[in-house]
Amino acid sequence: RYNYYYYSKNESLISDYEFDMLLKKLEKIENEYPEIADKNSPAAHVGSSLKESKFKKVEHKTAMLSLSNTYNIGEVTDFDARVKKSAEAATVEYVVELKLDGLSISLFYENGKLIRGVTRGDGKIGEDVTENIMAVESIPKYLKNGVTAEFRGEIVMPVASFEELNRRREENGEELFANPRNAASGTIRQLDSKIVAERGLDCYFYYVADGEKHGVKTHFEALKFIAETGLKTAGNYSLCRTVEEIDCAIKKWEEARHSLPYETDGMVIKVNEYRLYDILGNTTKSPRWAIAYKFPAEKAVTKLKGITFQVGRTGNITPVAELETVFVAGTKVSRASLHNFEEIARKDIRVGDMVVVEKAAEIIPQVVEPVMSQRDGSETVI
Ligand code: IVH
Repeated sequence: RYNYYYYSKNESLISDYEFDMLLKKLEKIENEYPEIADKNSPAAHVGSSLKESKFKKVEHKTAMLSLSNTYNIGEVTDFDARVKKSAEAATVEYVVELKLDGLSISLFYENGKLIRGVTRGDGKIGEDVTENIMAVESIPKYLKNGVTAEFRGEIVMPVASFEELNRRREENGEELFANPRNAASGTIRQLDSKIVAERGLDCYFYYVADGEKHGVKTHFEALKFIAETGLKTAGNYSLCRTVEEIDCAIKKWEEARHSLPYETDGMVIKVNEYRLYDILGNTTKSPRWAIAYKFPAEKAVTKLKGITFQVGRTGNITPVAELETVFVAGTKVSRASLHNFEEIARKDIRVGDMVVVEKAAEIIPQVVEPVMSQRDGSETVI
């Protein structure tokens, strides 16, 4: 159900974190009990909207895989250990780059001319969205050099375009997009390419198919090759040789990501040497030479409208914040835990306050603190 809403209706019913945790649980169960694993399970396939799609279907020459992900640096250490073991190497070089939050796309250029754009679809078959891709101004229709190649990247809606779009939609009484990713994905699936042209999409690339044919032997060289064509790369990448260096790159962007013009939901750690890709191989869904480290969920500011009280089974009372609905990390939040009265007093949270809400790596959203600078005196002490 969550996959269906996410891929077919561009809607997130739960946060990415909750989704990822459910998927991990399912994978674990299916590993333990392979006899009940369903071949149509979301654990075995890349989710897609192909069934409902009105676009022409195109088969990918090379499968468009997804990435396995983690929220925990310890699992990056495990990943590094697995890679080194398979590679029979004491050290392995990685490229650590931004994970852009949009939708993946595959573009074909023939003698430098853009001829086709295809969505990931289920990884084997995608949707032909060429007409819409042609309408994205920031995607070059001609490359600087006349190469014939397939490039893959992420279409994103920059935060500024997203805010402008939602502002206009609100004015027109139209439904708002929950986040830039849903907006980008919904836009590319528009049947009217004029609308696509108006929405200020952007695209960043992280892959060239059959890199060896272009003399590319590492991911680092692939990014250089991409940049030489005039396409933008997923950018801000660094070469790392240890988990400490990877952790350092992650920490840097976890802080700095809000200064970027687009949303990023984590970092991708990729083995640099192509030579190792064949050795490491893929699962049905994702390559074993890469892993995504996802940032913990975001915070948002909204109004605390009131407090209700939840009575637990043992009679303990938990105050619950009733909030003006806000989007936090892609889901709607209208209630959040206030834990207990001591905590409310300690933080001096008042009804009518603008409060910081966090959808952290926990299931229940939390009220972090009031925004004191926004008080006007009308707030009431709880
Ligand atoms: S590499 C075979 N690099 O994240 C590996 N993916 O969760 C293919 N994404 O399907 C993906 N930024 O849509 C790669 N720098 C990046 C990325 C990136 C965003 C997306 C992509 C992928 C999804 C997996």
